[in-house]
Amino acid sequence: MQNINTYVQEHKDRFINELIELLKIPSVSADTAYKDDVIKTAAEIQKSLLAAGCDHVEICETPGYPIVYGEKIIDTNLPTVLVYGHYDVQPPDPIDLWDSPPFEPVIKKTEIHPEGAIFARGSCDDKGQMYMHVKALEIMTKTGQLPCNVKFMIEGEEEVGSKSLGWFVERNQEKLANDVILISDTGMIAKDVPSITTGLRGLSYVEVEVTGPNRDLHSGLYGGAVANPINILTKMIASLHDEKNHITIPGFYDKVENLSNEERAEMAKAPFSLDAYKKSLDINAVYGEDGYTTNERNSIRPTLDVNGIWGGYTGEGAKTVIASKAYAKISMRLVPNQDWEEITQLFKKHFESIAPEAVTVKVTPHHGGQGYVTPIDNIGYQAASKAYQDSFGKTPIPQRSGGSIPIVSLFEKELKSKTILMGFGLDSDAIHSPNEHFGVWNYLKGIETIPLFYKYFTELSKS
Ligand code: BES
Ligand code: MN
Ligand code: MN
Repeated sequence: MQNINTYVQEHKDRFINELIELLKIPSVSADTAYKDDVIKTAAEIQKSLLAAGCDHVEICETPGYPIVYGEKIIDTNLPTVLVYGHYDVQPPDPIDLWDSPPFEPVIKKTEIHPEGAIFARGSCDDKGQMYMHVKALEIMTKTGQLPCNVKFMIEGEEEVGSKSLGWFVERNQEKLANDVILISDTGMIAKDVPSITTGLRGLSYVEVEVTGPNRDLHSGLYGGAVANPINILTKMIASLHDEKNHITIPGFYDKVENLSNEERAEMAKAPFSLDAYKKSLDINAVYGEDGYTTNERNSIRPTLDVNGIWGGYTGEGAKTVIASKAYAKISMRLVPNQDWEEITQLFKKHFESIAPEAVTVKVTPHHGGQGYVTPIDNIGYQAASKAYQDSFGKTPIPQRSGGSIPIVSLFEKELKSKTILMGFGLDSDAIHSPNEHFGVWNYLKGIETIPLFYKYFTELSKS
């Protein structure tokens, strides 16, 4: 493809500024206080897709936040790529830990990003990565090089479980018909180590509530004689892992896919420095399931983590109290073949069964989804691999990720197509954390690589 790099070089300031404008809108899907901003973001994306050359862009209403659907159909005999992304972002909390306000984007240089990185909530996850696709389309239409049809489906509820997207996909199979789905909402190993994500973990997210006495009690008058829900809850949670850090829920591992030694050896070839990993997190040692490496623990093995725990008095000073209730939010990351609804039921049954008689326990499922693995022997993966070879000068490494995009398995079920995950973020970009950022180099590299995917996918489809 000609002129792609020239076009990027000539327009990069505008590409960056447009993204910065989008990042200023706080499209936090988890918090209804931001409702108008979430809706406004959808409208902005509609405008940018039209400007980039889509013939038709609509804001599709759903029971939740709208989905922006856009298309550029050049010839129905040519292959169709469906791009998925999300315009909603995680809450910015804890705000105090940001060095600059989360919705006032600034470009700052870092050690990893000497060219500068855009600091803002959503810069990497996923507005920045989604917007690379909008700009890639612009380049292909403006330079007259779009080789195939493109459809866009950009949703606003990914960070809260994609409920409406499932609803939308089930009702719009024909509209969404495609030959391959392309997503940039994951990461890559390093700027000089391109990788393609070949797996995502599944997820089961639950909330638990432990109730003891019917009211908060004086911890002197009642302490020692009644169950303290916080003591009980922490004990129950601690029992969910054994001394080898295996999860103790009966049946939890029954369906876990076990990788062969060859596959594990292949995985171990990916460049990784444990020292650098520890240093980047300021930890003295890693911690996890016995018998597995760090990269295995965070990708091919299932996990159980408390995401939040509360109850009792947490204000200033000391208050002597035994709380009536204690709560925790718990996520389980799942691997291929584990069914998230089944795991949710196993958790519920087990958690209720280990509660002492002195308390009552309520388990409320939140959301979840299946894991996903992309085979590498298909033209989608091959096209992506060739695209990276051209733009990075290196063959990308297939890599399973620990994160989840639960909707991907539903795409396969409903739309019968494979998803290719071309992520350009780095683990150090701090997604979901304070000071989230996205390297300007990564952003522009993504914009350059995506058109090459279109080119190779179209070529490989013909052969
Ligand atoms: N983009 C992430 C998922 C991700 C990030 C996958 C990096 C691989 C590498 C996505 O927005 C996300 O945060 N997903 C949630 C699940 C969702 C149901 C809230 C997650 O993984 O926690
Ligand atoms: Mn995301
Ligand atoms: Mn996310």
